[in-house]
Amino acid sequence: MRRLLRLDSSAGGELSVTRSLTGRFASGWLAAGDDREVIARDLHADPLPHLETSELHFPPVGRLTEVAESDQQRQDEVVEQLRSADVVVIGAPMYNYSMPSTLKTWIDRIHLPGITFDLEPLPMAGKPVVLISASGAAYDPGTPTEGWDHVLPPLQIVLGDALGMDVHVVTSRLTLADRDPQLAAFSQRAEQERADAESTLDRLASTL
Ligand SMILES: Cc1cc2nc3c(=O)[nH]c(=O)nc-3n(C[C@H](O)[C@H](O)[C@H](O)COP(=O)(O)O)c2cc1C
Repeated sequence: MRRLLRLDSSAGGELSVTRSLTGRFASGWLAAGDDREVIARDLHADPLPHLETSELHFPPVGRLTEVAESDQQRQDEVVEQLRSADVVVIGAPMYNYSMPSTLKTWIDRIHLPGITFDLEPLPMAGKPVVLISASGAAYDPGTPTEGWDHVLPPLQIVLGDALGMDVHVVTSRLTLADRDPQLAAFSQRAEQERADAESTLDRLASTL
């Protein structure tokens, strides 16, 4: 049985672009082969608690740990859910130039020295992960807001550089073009970006 882990973090409900795109990828991936299943974790509807203690990240050396068994168990389950997936898709909307805190909390629970990185072999090495990011505006090279996207860089560093996963990035920019009069001039580009994102995801769903 091949397994896809689908993570959503948008608070946008039915209007959410990332939810629509993670859903499209999941349906396409399910249809692309037999004996497959999708495990969905909705980090907005069912958020993980923030780290109870930094000892969950760096277990102390030489003294008894203060980590409660139930907190450790919850974190172990989150790591195991990632480990047991063959493919991962993550919806990562831009909230205030960064990722939603619900998604950041998931990252805090899976980026663990000696458990998921800083060890050989890396347990998640080569596992494909599709990062789907949507933002209201655009952050094009050469514009004054180039470098303001703090959603994708940390996700790429953690999942790609540290955990060794095979990262595929898909973006849909200017999603507020039909709602924000200041962005109305970009509505055609927004539509094109959404269509391009959909066709890239259809291709990835049939190959990953
Ligand atoms: C709380 C909040 C903060 C946002 N901050 C930004 C931002 O800093 N930059 C931006 O381009 N868009 C911002 N947006 C717009 C979202 O990135 C955009 O609506 C995107 O489509 C959200 O993903 P979703 O459609 O999957 O919900 C924000 C939206 C919300 C709800």
